[in-house]
Amino acid sequence: MSRWKFVGRTDELNRLLSAVTGTEGRGLFYSGNAGIGKSRLLREGVAALPTDRYAIWSIAASATTAALPFGGLVQVLPAEQPQGLSPAGILRWALDVLQQQAAGRRIVLAIDDAHLLDPPSAALVHLVARAENATVIGTLRNGEQIPLPIRALWTDDLVENAELSPMAPAETAGLLAAILGGPVDAGSADRLGRLSAGNPLLLRELVHAASGSEELTRTYGIWKWTGRLELAPNLTDLIDIRIGQLTPGVRAVVELVAFGEPLGLQLLNQAVDPTDVEVAEERGLISVIQHDRRTNVRLAHPLYGEVMRRRCPVSRTRRLQAHLAELLERVGKRRRDDLLRVAVWRLDSGTAQDAALLLDAAVQAFSRYDVPLATRLARAALEAGGGFDAAELLATILMFADRPEEAIEVLDAVSPGSADSRRLSRWLTVRGMVTYWGLSQESTVEEIAARAGDLADSADQARVRAFEAIMRLHRLDTATALRLSQGVLDRPAASIAARELARCTIAYLQAAQGQLRRSGTAVNQVHSEAARWRADMPYLQLALELARGTRLTLAGDLAGIDAIVADEFADLAGAGDFRLGTGYLAILQAYAARLRGQSDAALRTSLGACAVLATSRVYAGLAQAERAQAAALRGDAAQAAEAMAEADRTQAPGMAVLYPWLEQARGAALAAAGDLPGAVKQLTELVDRLRADDFAGHEVHVLHDLVRLDQATTPVGPTCSDGSRRSVAQRLSELSERVDGVLPPLLARHARAAVAGSAADLLTVADDFAALDLNLYAAEATATALHRLRRERPAAANEARERLAALLNRCDLIRTPALRAGAPVLTEREWQVARLAAEGATSKAIADRLYLSARTVENHLQRIYAKLGVTSRAELRAALRAIPGHEGGDAS
Ligand SMILES: Nc1ncnc2c1ncn2[C@@H]1O[C@H](COP(=O)(O)OP(=O)(O)OP(=O)(O)O)[C@@H](O)[C@H]1O
Ligand SMILES: [Mg+2]
Repeated sequence: MSRWKFVGRTDELNRLLSAVTGTEGRGLFYSGNAGIGKSRLLREGVAALPTDRYAIWSIAASATTAALPFGGLVQVLPAEQPQGLSPAGILRWALDVLQQQAAGRRIVLAIDDAHLLDPPSAALVHLVARAENATVIGTLRNGEQIPLPIRALWTDDLVENAELSPMAPAETAGLLAAILGGPVDAGSADRLGRLSAGNPLLLRELVHAASGSEELTRTYGIWKWTGRLELAPNLTDLIDIRIGQLTPGVRAVVELVAFGEPLGLQLLNQAVDPTDVEVAEERGLISVIQHDRRTNVRLAHPLYGEVMRRRCPVSRTRRLQAHLAELLERVGKRRRDDLLRVAVWRLDSGTAQDAALLLDAAVQAFSRYDVPLATRLARAALEAGGGFDAAELLATILMFADRPEEAIEVLDAVSPGSADSRRLSRWLTVRGMVTYWGLSQESTVEEIAARAGDLADSADQARVRAFEAIMRLHRLDTATALRLSQGVLDRPAASIAARELARCTIAYLQAAQGQLRRSGTAVNQVHSEAARWRADMPYLQLALELARGTRLTLAGDLAGIDAIVADEFADLAGAGDFRLGTGYLAILQAYAARLRGQSDAALRTSLGACAVLATSRVYAGLAQAERAQAAALRGDAAQAAEAMAEADRTQAPGMAVLYPWLEQARGAALAAAGDLPGAVKQLTELVDRLRADDFAGHEVHVLHDLVRLDQATTPVGPTCSDGSRRSVAQRLSELSERVDGVLPPLLARHARAAVAGSAADLLTVADDFAALDLNLYAAEATATALHRLRRERPAAANEARERLAALLNRCDLIRTPALRAGAPVLTEREWQVARLAAEGATSKAIADRLYLSARTVENHLQRIYAKLGVTSRAELRAALRAIPGHEGGDAS
């Protein structure tokens, strides 16, 4: 009764196949209850695809692989992963590997039980789904927690999600015949079909339970069931009974597989009697799968594992895990993942004594940013006698898990004497990091500066100096930060990690000062050395991200931001595990969404960043500032003000270097509240401060904010020798020659066009903004132009109105002062819908009349309401009449 033919499910199978072979490129996930037939359907679908056209990978996630980073994809990735890559690097590498092996064919990833994917695997799946030439299909069991990147597959419209319903009665009858290998009497088929409620696994277990008894008999070739079950039995109960009846030998096989799948067949055969393995396979409890050059054993159905693990008492579970660890150690760890598997089994079974093994595994888990697992492993390493190295690692991980107090405790227990220069240097830096960023103790800087001098070794000294420098940068002691970093770079003895950390400090400063090109070169340099610093200082990635993110935001390089957000999706996927990384990238993403005019996404993403960073003292203020900006963009003054109050409450003094973002957001919040004089005062003072700090990279943006508030002619800065002061527009022109990139000259042109009041120039500027995807600025410049045209050349206003409408169509609800100054604009289609709606037609009626779907009409209406700032059809009528050029008129 191991495998019978596939029955029914024709429509479902076709739907799955056309998801892959169709032109849309959108994948398909089937969800449904346990045993309903999802896995089988997926398998049949995959088997039906021609391998000359599709490069297909089948992945079966399971409870045991879910515990390991990339555990779900062991079947897909080559055994040897390159060392020293960041999680993003691993993702990129993995995608490259798939592309290479696909050799031009379309990639198909088939993922069974995708809810059980570990976060990095889930992130990779998401990355693959976004590739042009790939389709992802899979299954999900109902009622299970789904990893974020997988859920994002359908919110990002990369896959469709369909429910797999129970089998129809005719299908269950056919399935019964297939299981029993012969026709079944109609009444029996009907009763069994109803009892199983169309669930094939339940049907199979029912038959299994009845077979061999007198209830199930065959007469003249026809099967008949005379059982008297009235209530449908519980699926797990049936499995439970079946497993309870296994011989001890077969049971041992199923148990080992339940805790260790996928297990190599060879390894399993060493642990148990091979005939028992065969019996277990015959009974359909396990399946043996050939993969690459390995033969793996898995459970035939995940429910067997669930029942098995639940039945297993704690003491026995631990013995089994210890046994598995021994087995794997004995045959030799072959894959990089085997180290982690052994370590986790050792941990879970309470037999973790090998400090070196645990420490190795902790480093590996941390370098994949699996913070919870890394914490457990490092703590175990420390407890197993791992000493200083284990303490250093554990403290570092704790710091990134927002547990600074515990980190200090761990460090203080291993405080080294000054004789050991290397240890002292490492101890000082980690402890410094915890107290400075974790506990907001600014005096840290002076403390570690004072002790750095005691270190005998030049390399050890350089390490401490590099930390001192980045701390000084954060608290705005920029001149010293620069001098110290330069000093580290000049020291031949300095380690790669110390050197690259110093380079990050410099790169950040260069970006803030507007030297974006040099900053970019430095960032690339740090990035290219990653393999040489990652193991020593994995958290250097954060300093790198900060420098890179600052440069990209200041350059207005939205595509660049998209690229790193996509790259680092692994961190996002960590669902809050590596929060600083996740949170910071979310802030960048919100910024990009905001400048694109996607206010919904900007607000949602920045709120997400606030949530992830709520307990951290590092970027919480920055996240709140971005939230204030997003709220202000939507004209939500109350939320903007509330976010600013939160920003002030959470902003740590040790993060003073971020002040430009906070103060800029404060200006936006004031403007949103209608306090224009307050906003202008706030922003002009900020311009002065940025000028004094030499942060020209920031200054151009704040000056441009003033232009957006119609202040291009407002004087800023000191009085010049001729007794006058420069205007915003003049200062922008001046800076556009000093600050790198295409943006500053464009901002300066915007200012000059505003001063000149030239609609034509404003429209060209808007085009250039739009080409950079800066829809918000493009829409504002167009609105200003339109405003002028309406007054001066009404005949020429139409075209500008259409352009504005098209731009606003790319945006969600946006309500900035510059946009509010002009009148609302609708596309032709929206006008048609709006007029019909204003006349009182229902969405359905409008849909019929205009040959649209009701949903499209609803979408149009929502946008119309947002643009006009109305909430009902009654208001709509009045608002439409108030728009020049469209008074009255009918909907034709
Ligand atoms: N259409 C079908 N024809 C023949 N056998 C089927 C069919 N659908 C399911 N089965 C069999 O029924 C059993 C349960 O199906 P399957 O493993 O696909 O369930 P599932 O929905 O994946 O359950 P879970 O959520 O627990 O993973 C399997 O043995 C499978 O081979
Ligand atoms: Mg399944």
